[in-house]
Amino acid sequence: MNTLLLKDNEKDINKAADILRNGGLVGLPTETVYGLAADALNGKAVAKIFEAKGRPMDNPLIVHIANFGDIIKHRLVNEIPKMLFLLADEFWPGPLTVIMKKSDIIPDEVSAGLSTVAIRFPSHPVAQRVIKAAGVPLAAPSANLSGSPSPTTAKHVMNDLGGKIDAVIDGGACEVGLESTVITLATDVPRVLRPGGITVEQLREVLGILQVDDAVVHKLKDNEVAASPGMKYKHYAPKANVILLKCHDDEYIEYVNSRANNGVSALCCDEDIRLLNVRTYSLGKRNDYTAHAQNLFDMLRKIDDDGVSTTVYSRLPSVNGVGLAVYNRLIRAAGFEVIDLEKD
Ligand code: TXA
Ligand code: MG
Repeated sequence: MNTLLLKDNEKDINKAADILRNGGLVGLPTETVYGLAADALNGKAVAKIFEAKGRPMDNPLIVHIANFGDIIKHRLVNEIPKMLFLLADEFWPGPLTVIMKKSDIIPDEVSAGLSTVAIRFPSHPVAQRVIKAAGVPLAAPSANLSGSPSPTTAKHVMNDLGGKIDAVIDGGACEVGLESTVITLATDVPRVLRPGGITVEQLREVLGILQVDDAVVHKLKDNEVAASPGMKYKHYAPKANVILLKCHDDEYIEYVNSRANNGVSALCCDEDIRLLNVRTYSLGKRNDYTAHAQNLFDMLRKIDDDGVSTTVYSRLPSVNGVGLAVYNRLIRAAGFEVIDLEKD
């Protein structure tokens, strides 16, 4: 299949909408990462997403809307949870996905057999225009091959899925850089299943009560069931071995330099670059967690593209603010391998 590279002009957006209405697949920009979209109400179209990505069939998809009213118009749920109004007022459109009890309209391919559906109203103007032009809600996971880092540019999408999908719309680099925060309202107490651009602190301020799922920072035991199926897979991993170091800044430099050789790289901050004797991939200024989120997946892909690193050392990120989202992705990229230098 020849994958069309579309622009974000009116003509190309209408073309993408036509493809989607006819059951095709389109990669499109959102403010978080690029999504691989299909008509969410067409089970056959949605099934093609799993095939293109090599995604396990038990991992449900997010349904994207372009208006709060789309939930009612398309009868995606039977009842709107009260807390959704609070969340939508504050955070929609934006990088927040909300899970609630689904209606029968949602195809099994979208919900992967669960009784719930994940809904997101993205703020990216191109995503909104495509959803509106298609006239249907769009099911869209991140537009990467399953297991590799999520794509933050159209080029990343082409590299992973070129030849397997109908089109990609190029809308430039994504602002947030990692996937939306996922919160469920289908439990007694609302619970964060995946941290993202909207922080736990922000959600707690609006809802008052909030739990954070154990799987956000800990590895699931073999017999544990993931509240969010996506959390159980090794994710976001480059081919090189990522190792996280829990340590002070000077210990980090010393530890990495003492292991310097051609296969060793550092995923680090701007301030470290001149102190390190190994290849560096910087996430931005030390305390700028927003920049770290923006650059993380791009740097993980660069490490693979350069193809010379066998081991990549990074500091264990902070769990504050959007740092928690970076922590959640990096600890998975590292297969939960952390060396604690503070212990000695
Ligand atoms: O920012 C984002 O969320 C991007 C853009 C494209 O919107 N999408 C995205 O989708 O990251 P995906 O499929 O890569 O991640 C969705 C996550 C998965 O971990 C999945 O298991 C979880 O949300 N999920 C979806 N529906 C769910 C449900 N009904 N119950 C629990 N978890 C759900
Ligand atoms: Mg994904």
